[in-house]
Amino acid sequence: MAETGTLHDAFIDELRDTYDAEKQLTKALPKLAKASSNPKLRQAFESHLEETQGQIERLDQVFESLGEKARGKHCEGIAGIIEEGKSIMEEDFDDTTMDACLIAAGQRSEHYEMAAYGTLVAWAEAMGHTEAAKLLQQTLDEEKAADKKLSGLAEGGINQGAADAARAEEDEEPEAVVAGGTRKSASKSGRR
Ligand SMILES: [Fe+2]
Repeated sequence: MAETGTLHDAFIDELRDTYDAEKQLTKALPKLAKASSNPKLRQAFESHLEETQGQIERLDQVFESLGEKARGKHCEGIAGIIEEGKSIMEEDFDDTTMDACLIAAGQRSEHYEMAAYGTLVAWAEAMGHTEAAKLLQQTLDEEKAADKKLSGLAEGGINQGAADAARAEEDEEPEAVVAGGTRKSASKSGRR
C-alpha cells in the first residue's frame, strides 16, 4: 500500500505549484505592461515583474531552508487566469476600458497568489518552519500591496474614465426606431 501523504508533502507540493505560478507570471506581466495605456498602470506591472523575480529567489531560499531541491510543478490555476488575460488583450476595447480589464486580470492573479501564500504561511507556521514562514510572509505582503496598488489605480480614475468613455459612446449611437414607430434615442434615458 502506498504511504499516506502528510501536511509536509502537501506543503512541498504547494510550494512547487507556486514556484511554477511565479515563473509563468514573469512571462505574463510584461504582456500586461505592454498592453497598458496608462503610464502608472504600466509602471505597476513592471515593478511587480521585478518583485516577482525576487519572489522566485525567495522561494529558492524557502526550498533550501527545508533541505528540498527547488523545482516547479505546472500550476494549472494560474495558467487559466493567464489564458483569460490573453483573451481580454485580444478584444477591441478603447484604451481606458482595456486598462480597466487589465487591472481585473492582474487582480485575479494577485488574489490567487494571496490565497496560495496565505496557506503556505499558515502551514509553515503550524509545522514550525519559522524561516520559511518569515520568507513566505514577506511575499504575501508584497502581493497584498500589489493588489492594493491596482485597486488604487482602478478607483483613482481608470474605472471612471472607462465608464465615461462608455457613456460618450452611448450618446453617439444613432436614434433607433422602437416598436410602435416612435423614434427614441438608443441611449438609455433616466441614467444621468
Ligand atoms: Fe507573485
